Amino acid sequence: MKKSIGNKKIKTAIFISGRGSNLKNLIKFSNQISSPISIKLIVSNNKKAKGLRYADQDNIEKKIINFSNPIIAEKKILSLLVKKKIKFICLAGFMKILSKKFINNYKGKILNIHPSLLPKYKGLNTHKRVIMNKEKFTGCTVHMVNSKLDSGKIIFQKKIKVLKNDNEKKLEKRLLNIENRIYPIATKKFINFNL
Ligand code: GRF
Repeated sequence: MKKSIGNKKIKTAIFISGRGSNLKNLIKFSNQISSPISIKLIVSNNKKAKGLRYADQDNIEKKIINFSNPIIAEKKILSLLVKKKIKFICLAGFMKILSKKFINNYKGKILNIHPSLLPKYKGLNTHKRVIMNKEKFTGCTVHMVNSKLDSGKIIFQKKIKVLKNDNEKKLEKRLLNIENRIYPIATKKFINFNL
């Protein structure tokens, strides 16, 4: 039987810290009948994250977790994930680095989206660095999460040209639209082959 049919959808949690445009599109995707995922939980380390409104709009349980003590925070999240029978996690603009211990609990079951052509430009301020270095191309990457920052297996990548009049803002805007489009595609591909 296909993983996507009826209540066979994979129970998924999305972790965010801010705006939530990728979350919004993952929710839209999960609401399609043929989608393999069903979003059951949204976790944020930031109570002011704008993306939390999408949880309210779609009646999805949300949990704000204070990361001032990351060990306690991760313990709380893990027990929630177990309680909600979560089998798959998408990081979508989640600004905290998860510990090796946490990741091992969901080994091979966590994806992230990053605004660069990994392995180039890991970490923050990718667009700024791309412009500064006068790169001809940039892009975005959906990858598996392992214990090294932005270093897990690449699942899907989209490359775009850096235009002559691009600045950080313009590039971010153009790329974000692409990110929003590819995260669901990459998720589907990943689940079909791996879960
Ligand atoms: C995206 O650019 C994503 O690649 C990065 O953080 C940003 C999150 O944007 N990891 P949003 O909150 O999904 O709008």
